Amino acid sequence: MTQLADSQPSLNDFQLIDGIYFPKNYEQLNSTKHKQKWDAIGKTYYGSQKIEQVTETSAIKQDYTLLGGRPGGTWNKFPMDKSVDSILEIGCGYGRAPLHLSKEKNLQCQKYYAIDISESLLRRLIKVKAEYNFFPNAEFNIICNSAETLPLAGNSIDLVISNCVFMHIPDAQLRNLLSEIFRVLKPGGMFVFNHSFHNKACPSHIIHNSIRNLNIFSKNPIYLKQYSAIEIQEMLNNAGIQAKCPQYIVEPTTEYAILPETIKGIPVPFAKAINRSLKPSDAWKETLAYGFSAYSIPLE
Ligand SMILES: C[S@@+](CC[C@H](N)C(=O)[O-])C[C@H]1O[C@@H](n2cnc3c(N)ncnc32)[C@H](O)[C@@H]1O
Repeated sequence: MTQLADSQPSLNDFQLIDGIYFPKNYEQLNSTKHKQKWDAIGKTYYGSQKIEQVTETSAIKQDYTLLGGRPGGTWNKFPMDKSVDSILEIGCGYGRAPLHLSKEKNLQCQKYYAIDISESLLRRLIKVKAEYNFFPNAEFNIICNSAETLPLAGNSIDLVISNCVFMHIPDAQLRNLLSEIFRVLKPGGMFVFNHSFHNKACPSHIIHNSIRNLNIFSKNPIYLKQYSAIEIQEMLNNAGIQAKCPQYIVEPTTEYAILPETIKGIPVPFAKAINRSLKPSDAWKETLAYGFSAYSIPLE
């Protein structure tokens, strides 16, 4: 994206094709392994491709949760009936989180900006919107790009949301992305990054990393760095959170794990049952938690 020194980033440099804004250098983005990986994953992500073939009588038509489940975690704490002017979603996928927030929490907005690197998932998001009409009154701006640069003006967004995305973005890019988020967020705006960071103390990740490091030739590019709560706070502070949103929390998720449930796609026997049976005391929660969420407080 070219940008004059005194102009704000905007969607003007993007091309709108089939309801999706694409960057002019889309060919270059398409040549990256990261994008190719997510385009491939997107084709069957959570079985959500079912929406592309549903019949009129399919139960999925009535129940959106049959597509990819109901996201939990911080979304359970999200207030009812909130209405904002603008929402930006980072790594929106096919729209699982906003669908849930619109249907279950009656969240409303005038403008919904959704950015994701996966074209296949964004095309599905358009189908999901047509099927379930989430955020019925909103103007939709769907952007296919890597989110580390955001084509939006500073101080323009009321609420930034993201669900299970940041752990898939390499460290340096993630730091840029967080700075971009706190550039575009309005002072006093809100954010929810649900299940967004993997926990570096979690035994499951430590085992997974050791196995991954044995294979120096082909490391899973989707399974990246983990962080401690303090490192996450440092990243958020360095990204400029204090100027926009001084009150926030970094919270361990309530999924605990001592064993990886799959290694190279192969299920590890009993790992799921063992992990589900874990009931750590408060002192152990931050060690055994699979990851962390971060969100502005209060959420109201
Ligand atoms: C685990 S999925 C979560 C999708 C969605 N938020 C959900 O909860 O269903 C991760 C998402 O992040 C997107 N993603 C990965 N790297 C990205 C990047 N650099 N910029 C934008 N989106 C990215 C992927 O395409 C994918 O849709």
